[in-house]
Amino acid sequence: MNQRRILVTSALPYANGHIHIGHLVEYIQTDIWVRFQKLRGHDCRYMCADDTHGTAIMIRAQKEGRSEEALIAEMSEAHQRDFAGFHIEFDNYGSTNSENSKKHCSPIWQALRDKGLVKENEIEQLFDVEANTFLADRFVKGTCPKCKAVNQNGDSCDVCGAVYTPAELIDPVSILSGTTPEVRKAVHLFVEIESLHEFLNDWTQNSGALQKEISNYLKGHFLGEPLHDWDISRPAPYFGFEIPDAPGNYWYVWFDAPIGYIGSTQDWCDANNQDIKDWWWSEDCEIHHFIGKDITYFHTLFWPAMLKSAGIQLPTKVHIHGFLNVNGEKMSKSKGTFVQAATYLEHLNPSYLRYYYASKLTNKVDDLDLNLEEFVNKINSDLVGKLVNLASRTAKFIKDVGLSATYPDDDGLFADTASAGDEIAEAYEECDFNKAMRLLMAAADKANEFVERSAPWKLKKEADKQQELQDCCTIALNLFRQLVVYISPVLPVLAAQVDELFGKAIKHWDDSKEQQVGYQLNEFKHLMQRVDPKAVEAMINDSKSADEEIAEKQDAADDDGSALEAEPLAETCTFDDFMKVDLRVARVVNAEEVKKSKKLLKLTLSLGGDNTRTVLAGIKTAYTPEQLIGRLVVMVANLAPREMGKFGTSEGMVIAAGPGGEDIWLLSPDSGAKPGQRVH
Ligand code: 2FM
Ligand code: ZN
Repeated sequence: MNQRRILVTSALPYANGHIHIGHLVEYIQTDIWVRFQKLRGHDCRYMCADDTHGTAIMIRAQKEGRSEEALIAEMSEAHQRDFAGFHIEFDNYGSTNSENSKKHCSPIWQALRDKGLVKENEIEQLFDVEANTFLADRFVKGTCPKCKAVNQNGDSCDVCGAVYTPAELIDPVSILSGTTPEVRKAVHLFVEIESLHEFLNDWTQNSGALQKEISNYLKGHFLGEPLHDWDISRPAPYFGFEIPDAPGNYWYVWFDAPIGYIGSTQDWCDANNQDIKDWWWSEDCEIHHFIGKDITYFHTLFWPAMLKSAGIQLPTKVHIHGFLNVNGEKMSKSKGTFVQAATYLEHLNPSYLRYYYASKLTNKVDDLDLNLEEFVNKINSDLVGKLVNLASRTAKFIKDVGLSATYPDDDGLFADTASAGDEIAEAYEECDFNKAMRLLMAAADKANEFVERSAPWKLKKEADKQQELQDCCTIALNLFRQLVVYISPVLPVLAAQVDELFGKAIKHWDDSKEQQVGYQLNEFKHLMQRVDPKAVEAMINDSKSADEEIAEKQDAADDDGSALEAEPLAETCTFDDFMKVDLRVARVVNAEEVKKSKKLLKLTLSLGGDNTRTVLAGIKTAYTPEQLIGRLVVMVANLAPREMGKFGTSEGMVIAAGPGGEDIWLLSPDSGAKPGQRVH
């Protein structure tokens, strides 16, 4: 087989937070794929790094009274410790704040300049004098310039859907300091990405680099109209790389983040006497990015545009996965399902999660559900009950005699398992790990049926059946080893234990074709424990209590009056004024996403009987439709219907608190209230 050169990356985690089980979906997925490719004999390398630049890091470092460098060094260590804990093995783990990353930013920038794609634009931006920083859109709140709704984000209005610049907001307030920011003019640099529209159209639709649903999404959401210029610079102060030909300006974090992939490869090349040209500048090298669906835009439009302009190889594939839910819901701090990697490791074996994710991962963009009950059952029945059991039920019987001298007649079982290897390999290659695990477990079922039929525990008791016993165990252990070869990308630690048992390392996928005969096995040591549901419970409780502590601190911080300061009380109104607003209890009987709207959900609210209202609510950033259906809310029932452009008409409003984004809190009555009852 031809040896392929394959460069693989996972998204670079932000240095401002710890790794949690949601992140791990991607790193485990990538690590399995990389280990599989290595086992197939390919020259495959896995690069990653911390994503270190931007306002969030700068502000956190300021708050903590230390340098950004100190903060990112600590986080890098924590990230690498967590990844290693889950057996995720990088060929290099770098940082976007490295000399090598910086070194690769300049030529890419120069290429954009040379192609005339960079232009200057003076924009008005809000500046927080107290925090001494320009404010990114999400750091500003204010009143919508169009519909006058209060407490709206800096970029768009949740209520009427208007899109604007933060400088257009009425009464803007910085969420960093609670002060009123100044409008300052600043020149930003923009990349005219529209010039690459035709190329991007072709690459996203025809290159085969993207999953079909992603190509369609890009076509429907971005490529049907001219692409907006990309604001690529930020004025000082900003934690990042200063733009060489625009002093006082820094590359926006999303410019140098993906270049970190190249920077990390450069670190590895330097340490391993390799030439970066053979990796990023060679048609002989495949480039595979693994990312989550939330950063599709950057990796499928901007990044290829940058690479194309700079004459660097385009990604062979961008593998995009969905989000992690736990027990069918968004990960939740209060429910204890927002589990940090380190907390998981205190309670459970990382191999469990690797196998569970593998069994759920396909090459679709669908979200993945970690159902904790299923997790326990799957590990106990598949890994312990089917796989490991093959060895634990048989190894002990040949402790003294070893494997049979020649391979016994097994009715074609070994040959069948060997040939199943092709289909399993194909499934791994396609990132359909769910299929690979199903095929593998089907083969394990057959092996177990053989053991059941042969009943070595009975043979053991009959003096004249000792050859049969040795043969039966030889067959079972050979089948076991074949399966361990196939599962070794998912369970490297199990593979290492099996290497020890056989005194022989699994080095290549084709080791599954080699029969093991005529030698003594090493002492059998227990391979894997069953999952104790109590350990899962303890992990969830720990995640809860860790968060309760944070929540307590948060509460104290939340009660500090900043919310009121951010939005002072409105003018006094009379009782009659208030009574004009007819607030009613309503039940959400249906909720669905509004296509092409980032913020709106379409709710069908029942006021009891046949009285329903359709309400377009700007709460999509905080709630999924499933979380809403069935619950009670409070609505403004006598609001005049409002046209909301292409999204339709809204017949009322649901009442919620909070600044927006993920922080939207719907009000609901205590239980017992009935739809239709007035709130006053
Ligand atoms: O979304 C994120 O967490 C980013 N830090 C990913 C960056 S990926 C790459 F472009 F660097
Ligand atoms: Zn508005």
